Amino acid sequence: MTELKFHVDESKCIRCGACIRDCAPAILEFDPDSEYPRVIPGAEPGCTRCQHCLAVCPRAAVEIFGRDPEESLPGNAVPDPDEILSLIANRRSFRSYRHENLDRVTLDKLKDMLRFVPTGVNAHSLHFAFIDEVEVMDSFRNYVMDRVAGMLAEDPDNPFLSRMERYRRQFIEGRDVIFRGAPHMVVAAAKEDSPCPAYDPVIALSYFELYAQSLGVGTVWCGLALGTLNYFPELMARLKLPEGYKAGYCMLFGPTGLRYPRATQPDPAGMHSVE
Ligand SMILES: Cc1cc2nc3c(=O)[nH]c(=O)nc-3n(C[C@H](O)[C@H](O)[C@H](O)COP(=O)(O)O)c2cc1C
Ligand code: SF4
Ligand code: SF4
Repeated sequence: MTELKFHVDESKCIRCGACIRDCAPAILEFDPDSEYPRVIPGAEPGCTRCQHCLAVCPRAAVEIFGRDPEESLPGNAVPDPDEILSLIANRRSFRSYRHENLDRVTLDKLKDMLRFVPTGVNAHSLHFAFIDEVEVMDSFRNYVMDRVAGMLAEDPDNPFLSRMERYRRQFIEGRDVIFRGAPHMVVAAAKEDSPCPAYDPVIALSYFELYAQSLGVGTVWCGLALGTLNYFPELMARLKLPEGYKAGYCMLFGPTGLRYPRATQPDPAGMHSVE
């Protein structure tokens, strides 16, 4: 645990106690001498590094980890709820992409967004392997298509083909049903001994998908790509995930010419209210 560097600017603090009340592990208190907030002596290891103390202060008086509260994005910039619902309802799984790289500015925006995603116990033990160049994506694609062509010719009962039985006809036609012709892929991996390795990658990619589609970028969750990476360890090795990290899920993305002029009409989700 690095030093918290918790600092209250006493010229701004109005002693409202909001930072103390919102600290989930309750490691803050009013200093009995100065009467300003401080970290309870010896309680530093309990900090989850959530920065709620910095975020909640009405006077921007709290610095922690050397972060200046004035540098935060404003907290009142929440979009219209109808726009949020429209984004959720109109997000689609895109399986048609232009064979070209996304512009660099948009790609960088997508990558930078990932620091804001929530993680269990705020561990942020995630790592993202990005395929930034369509040529690299093509080499993954071509490798798999070559291997599949070999299986179709010599080993039609190969477990890889059996597992993807319903795509056999499309494989025979040489269609890229796995990577969907996408120019980019992101693989979200979690540290295996982190608190929530099964969930954090999926949550991160959920945020990624919505932000991408708000920017007009197509995305598709791709269990087939994850299954393929797991089946061909030499491809997984090419991702060079850090030691101790495991791929959690894959998302394909990129520029798409496809537009859906209306949302789908799914049935209501199953639910009940517990008495
Ligand atoms: C998979 C997952 C599990 C979580 N479980 C809990 C929990 O059991 N109790 C809780 O208070 N917060 C829980 N959280 C919330 C995180 O602690 C929180 O995201 C983190 O402290 C950062 O705060 P923020 O979401 O306000 O940025 C969970 C978050 C995730 C993503
Ligand atoms: S970062 Fe979070 S856990 Fe740490 S002192 Fe601030 S509010 Fe408490
Ligand atoms: S939230 Fe800000 S103003 Fe309120 S007690 Fe904490 S530091 Fe002071």
